[in-house]
Amino acid sequence: MFDHLEKGTVADLDFVLLEEARSEHRFIHRWPEPEHRRALTDPACHYVVGRNKADGAIGYGILFKQDDGAVELRRIVVNQPNKGIGSAFLKAVLTYCTGALQAQRVWLDVYEDNSRARHVYEKLGFRETPKRLKGDDSATRIVMEWRGP
Ligand SMILES: CC(C)(COP(=O)(O)OP(=O)(O)OC[C@H]1O[C@@H](n2cnc3c(N)ncnc32)[C@H](O)[C@@H]1OP(=O)(O)O)[C@@H](O)C(=O)NCCC(=O)NCCS
Repeated sequence: MFDHLEKGTVADLDFVLLEEARSEHRFIHRWPEPEHRRALTDPACHYVVGRNKADGAIGYGILFKQDDGAVELRRIVVNQPNKGIGSAFLKAVLTYCTGALQAQRVWLDVYEDNSRARHVYEKLGFRETPKRLKGDDSATRIVMEWRGP
């Protein structure tokens, strides 16, 4: 269960690295620890961690605030998918974006075959844009965006 969101710090790295090591999270990019440590010192980069009182961290997200005021949601992961936790956490992440980060637009890219994530994004108001990305793995990623109230 998701309870509340906190800004992530270096103290959350064990959790982040543990999640990124899990093979079932096959749709996410993974960074080695030094890359996370560098990102945590980047003023444009914001880690957010979902917590619940009983279990501690239940998910994390990595956000980048852009010069144009928009936020890129670079990564979002929960440790127990498909139990409603990610939807609740993402809702809180969007509130964090419009509040603490004062963003009216949030965008992300998602592998086209990550149908669960795409469903959750759509459900929370993200819309597909015509933009498609292709990386070294040659898989197609769809760019989606969300606009605040
Ligand atoms: C993406 C992620 C954060 C979503 O969080 P979650 O806790 O799994 O999502 P929820 O349980 O809140 O909701 C899942 C929804 O997807 C639906 N769903 C489950 N499997 C599905 C599938 N294969 N295709 C489409 N929809 C699916 C569920 O029915 C549910 O829909 P509902 O809320 O309308 O009933 C989580 O799955 C995750 O961490 N995945 C691994 C990392 C990842 O892929 N991150 C996104 C990278 S862009």
